[in-house]
Amino acid sequence: MATIIDGKKISQTIKDELKEKVAEYKQNGVEIALAVILVGNDPASSVYVGNKKKACEYIGIRSLSYELPEETSEEELLTLIDTLNKDDSVNGILVQLPLPKHIEEKKVIRAISPKKDVDGFHPENVGALLIGEPGYVSCTPAGIIELLRRSNVEIEGKECVVIGRSNIVGKPMGVLLLRENGTVTVTHSRTKDLKEVCKRADILVVAIGKPMMITADYVKEGAVVIDVGIHRKEDGKLCGDVDFSSVEPVAGAITPVPGGVGPMTIAMLMKNCVDSISLLS
Ligand code: GUN
Repeated sequence: MATIIDGKKISQTIKDELKEKVAEYKQNGVEIALAVILVGNDPASSVYVGNKKKACEYIGIRSLSYELPEETSEEELLTLIDTLNKDDSVNGILVQLPLPKHIEEKKVIRAISPKKDVDGFHPENVGALLIGEPGYVSCTPAGIIELLRRSNVEIEGKECVVIGRSNIVGKPMGVLLLRENGTVTVTHSRTKDLKEVCKRADILVVAIGKPMMITADYVKEGAVVIDVGIHRKEDGKLCGDVDFSSVEPVAGAITPVPGGVGPMTIAMLMKNCVDSISLLS
């Protein structure tokens, strides 16, 4: 039986810590504001953005909401970002992805000032992470490190296998595990003998984007399994990239879906907003 890593509970602790810090800042006359931009009406994105705004409210961060129609042009979006970059009362800017097809995501990510890029997607922040300099770190991988730390999972010297090499999760996850002195393998769709590679892992981070793909035969007895995926099944229930009922009896610890990595992503976004006070100065 695996220990269940309770991301909901850990994220709540982090949010409460941040709430205190924000209150202290407020007493010293410092206010934090996050601009949240949503283009179009993708239902999942609307839910994510709603959750981010709720978290801001809980912690005491002012959220400025920009809900723009699907047909917003790239130029209009870039103009808004430019205005927010120049606005000293705005600490962080978040553009919810994915964007409509006629808008180039790369361009939008680069347009956000690296000092306000609380998502940690700007190439300057990604580069800073790679060479160990201060900067914003992508929230999901940062949240996973925090989950491991607060669950007393040692990373140093451990075999860490990441499945998936996206810019948002897989790649920064690999770098962060390396920074914690793990021995890191990042796997992907062309990896040969994926099962065998995964079976070496003491810590297995699954960000593959395929519902319930990882079963017990990918997992070493006692391994820590972190599930980044979130999918809605035909019966309406949520599931991850890991087949929980198959893996849980084999793993030493495992994150559930929902209530594992998801809430940590938002907690780390809030942490990045609070950290903006020192990063902006
Ligand atoms: N879409 C899915 N995940 C994210 C995220 O972490 N940040 C933003 N901005 N968009 C997303």
